[in-house]
Amino acid sequence: MSNIITMIAPVNIAVIKYWGKRNEELILPLNDSVSVTLNANVMCAKTTVCVSPNFLEDEIWLNGAKESFTNQRLQNCLKEIKSRAAVERSVDDIFLTWKVHICSENNFPTAAGLASSAAGYACLVSALAKAYKIKSDVSSIARLGSGSACRSVYGGFVRWHAGVESDGSDSIAVQIANKSHWPEMSALILVVGDTQKKISSSKGMKLSVETSDLFQFRVQNCVPKRVEEICKAITTKDFVKFAEITMKDSNQFHAICLDSYPPITYMTDTSYKIIEMIHKYNNIHPKIKIAYTFDAGPNACLYLLEEEVPKILSLIQHIFPTSTPDKFITGLPIQHEKIDT
Ligand code: PMV
Repeated sequence: MSNIITMIAPVNIAVIKYWGKRNEELILPLNDSVSVTLNANVMCAKTTVCVSPNFLEDEIWLNGAKESFTNQRLQNCLKEIKSRAAVERSVDDIFLTWKVHICSENNFPTAAGLASSAAGYACLVSALAKAYKIKSDVSSIARLGSGSACRSVYGGFVRWHAGVESDGSDSIAVQIANKSHWPEMSALILVVGDTQKKISSSKGMKLSVETSDLFQFRVQNCVPKRVEEICKAITTKDFVKFAEITMKDSNQFHAICLDSYPPITYMTDTSYKIIEMIHKYNNIHPKIKIAYTFDAGPNACLYLLEEEVPKILSLIQHIFPTSTPDKFITGLPIQHEKIDT
């Protein structure tokens, strides 16, 4: 007897960035963040878990390669799943002693600043939750794997409340608006580079918290106001406001990276060329038409209304003549509902 579950989970790209932790082990952030969940058909993680009395040890394969199961975050997620299962009495006690095999893959570059860990851990935790028949909310368990993963558990527009409790009980993701709220909203991912980032987001955040003078200013003076404003822009479908805040927050996040010591640089010349292209395009229109945002990598995520997509695609091909449609990924962002566990 064994239990095999396969699930897929989408990527989410933050418009107000999570950067900096107040608790490294529980992955509790210093600021709220807001994101948009992309269409899982375009970019997703796919995970299969199998729990069986025949397995001798826990094992994991990532994108076809066997990895060590000693990863602390992975262990924390499995431990939390099992203790929830014990509390909820969702499976027999014997089931909790069986070993698990996990097989996970992404259909896009891993660790290149394309939120692969967000989709990966959201998927892993959702699949485990289904295998162990857990009924309660799994977003806080996904957070133990990778902070931003707690937002990928929901579709549409999502806010992760930093919370104030030391045990992290109020550090949870909530949906601001569902997939049908703003159907015209689109996302375009421009793949600038697909090599692994030089410094992981965990290491980068720690360095920024410890060394950047701008960091505290951002957390205290900028993010709280921006979060309220962007949530309002989302509920009222105010694209201009949404886009302006998104771009400013991306720029500030990368300014903090540069203000860290030694400085962290995630963007490349091509990334800056994209920023220039977007501002030029916006400037020839009476209102902002497109927003860019960059995570911990050189790749751009553009948010725009659907009617703009053909125009911006031809502009990209004009400015970057070697780009091909398979090098950029389009996706309507708000097609995904909360993962059904
Ligand atoms: O969840 P992590 O540890 O991969 O950190 C994500 C950090 C950013 O992608 C840069 C910002 C965010 O909010 O997703």
